Amino acid sequence: MLKNKNILIGVTGSIAAYKIAHLTRLFVKEGAHVKIVMSKAATEFITPLTLSTLSKHPVLIDFKNGDSGEWNNHVDLGLWADVMIIAPASANTIAKMANGICDNLLLATYLSARCKVYFAPAMDLDMYQHPSTKANIQKLLQFGNTIIKPENGELASGLIGEGRMAEPETILSFIKQEFSKTQPLKGKKVLVTAGPTYEAIDPVRFIGNHSSGKMGFALAETLAEQGAEVTLVCGPTALSTTNKKIKRIDITSAEELYNASTKAFQQADIAILAAAVADFKPAKVASQKIKKSNNSKTIELEPTKDTLAELGKRKKKGQLLIGFALETNNEIEHAKLKIKNKNLDLIVLNSLKDKGAGFKTDTNKITLIDKYNKTTKFELKSKLDTAKDIIAAILKLKK
Ligand code: CTP
Repeated sequence: MLKNKNILIGVTGSIAAYKIAHLTRLFVKEGAHVKIVMSKAATEFITPLTLSTLSKHPVLIDFKNGDSGEWNNHVDLGLWADVMIIAPASANTIAKMANGICDNLLLATYLSARCKVYFAPAMDLDMYQHPSTKANIQKLLQFGNTIIKPENGELASGLIGEGRMAEPETILSFIKQEFSKTQPLKGKKVLVTAGPTYEAIDPVRFIGNHSSGKMGFALAETLAEQGAEVTLVCGPTALSTTNKKIKRIDITSAEELYNASTKAFQQADIAILAAAVADFKPAKVASQKIKKSNNSKTIELEPTKDTLAELGKRKKKGQLLIGFALETNNEIEHAKLKIKNKNLDLIVLNSLKDKGAGFKTDTNKITLIDKYNKTTKFELKSKLDTAKDIIAAILKLKK
C-alpha cells in the first residue's frame, strides 16, 4: 500500500527521535520513498547521518546547505510529499505549528505542505496535560492535521503516564490505514487494454501502429494504487508493470485482444479500452515469407473484431465501459456518436491536432465526454496525471 508513496518525516527535539531510525526502516521496507527534515534540536538526539543512510536521501536541517550554500527548497519538499509526519512532535514544535511560527526549515516545510499532515506528540506527561499544549493540539486538529496519539507508559523522566510517542509499528499501521481510505477502488475489478496490436501478413511481417502502451499502463498502475484488481490485456510493448495487483495478459493480434478482453469483462466492474487496435487485418496469413518475386502486390484486408463494440453489447447493469477515440476532425461530434453506437459510459478523446498528445509521448491532452454529454477539456499533462483525471471522472459516474 505504501509502495512508491512519498513520505516526509519531520523530526523534532525529543528523546523519542531515536525511534525514527526504526520508523524510517519500516517505511522503506514497505517500498515508500522517505525524506527527512530535522530541527536543530533533533540532531542532538539522533545523527542526520543515521537517518540519511536509512532513508537513502540527504537529511535537511537548514534553509541552506552548509558547504555549498545551496538553497533547500521547502516548497518543493512540501509538494513532493504524499504525507508529512511530524514525529516526534515536541511541545515546542506543536506550539510553533499552532501559531504559524516559521523559524526553521521543518516549520517552513510544514506551512507550505499541501498534503495531509500527521503529528505524533512526545513529551513528559505534565507537559502533555498542560492547558497550553492541549489548546495548541486542538488548534492543529482544527487546521486539519491529524494526531497520532501518544501512549501511556514509562517516560524518559521516570514518570509514568501519557506522553510517550506512539511506537514506530503503531505509526506505520496508522499511516497504512489512512492510505487505505484513499483506495476508492478497493475490491473492484478493472479490465484495461493497452498498446498496439500486430496483424500478421506472413511469419515475419505485420500491420501495426506506433502505440507505446504508456497511457494504458499509467491507467493500470494508478487503478491498482487506488485499490483495484486490474487485468491488463496488452499488445507488444517494452513496458513493464510494478504493482502486484496487475494481472498482465500479453496478446499480439486484435483477435487475441478480443478473446482475452471478453473473458475478463465477465467479472469486471469497469473496463477501460485504451489499446490502439488495428481495424483491419490481412484476410489470409501467408504460411511462408512472401517473396519479392511474388506476383500479387496487394494484400486483401478484412475488418478485425471490435472489442469495444462487443463489450458495449454485453454490458450488464452496474458495469462501466470507457473507450478511447483518436480523431482528426469534428472530434467532439464523432466521439459523442461513438458513445451512443458502442453503449459507452465515458469516452477519452485525443485529437491528433494537439501537440504532446497521442502515441509515444509521456504527456497527453484529453477531452472527456460522458454519456450525459458532459464535456471536460484538460490541459496537457503527464500520462500519469491524465490517468488520475480519467479515474476521477469514472468515480464520479459511479456515484
Ligand atoms: N477498439 C477495440 N477494438 C477494435 C478497434 C477499436 O476495442 N477492433 C477500441 C479502442 O481500444 C478504443 C476505441 O475502440 O477504445 C477506439 O476506436 P477508434 O479506432 O477511434 O474508433 P472506431 O470505432 O474504430 O471508429 P473509426 O475508425 O471510424 O474512428
